[in-house]
Amino acid sequence: MKSFVFVLMSALCAANSFADDVALGRAKADAACALCHGPNGVASMPSAPNLAGQQAIYLSEQLKNYRSGKRHHEVMTYIAKPLTDAEIAQLAAWYSAIKVSVETP
Ligand code: HEC
Repeated sequence: MKSFVFVLMSALCAANSFADDVALGRAKADAACALCHGPNGVASMPSAPNLAGQQAIYLSEQLKNYRSGKRHHEVMTYIAKPLTDAEIAQLAAWYSAIKVSVETP
């Protein structure tokens, strides 16, 4: 029973921290990313990509690549430079949590 409670608590904590990441990521994105990537991750600028529904692992990898210089873009390199690993995880959690639906023509 004890171990069941422990497993349950761990699961709840993990769920909470993901929800926290989504909320923190959303607040950060509203302030720093929405201008180009849109308030819901659908780009509001033709030269910026949509981020809504993108895989978290892909998003964090790209942000880390901009930060390290492995991937270079005038704007994104500048934006990613000061981001911490925790902030990257939060931003990736937020954009990946947005539900998108697809309609083919
Ligand atoms: C001034 C406009 C602008 C702002 C603000 C901005 N971006 Fe971008 N972002 C771009 C553009 C343009 C690209 C395409 C860059 C390229 O070609 O590599 C891009 C690319 C990206 C990519 C790569 C997407 C892919 O499909 O590979 C990610 C991830 C990303 N941005 C996240 C963010 C996050 C998170 C923020 C806020 C912290 C942010 N961006 C703020 C313009 C912006």
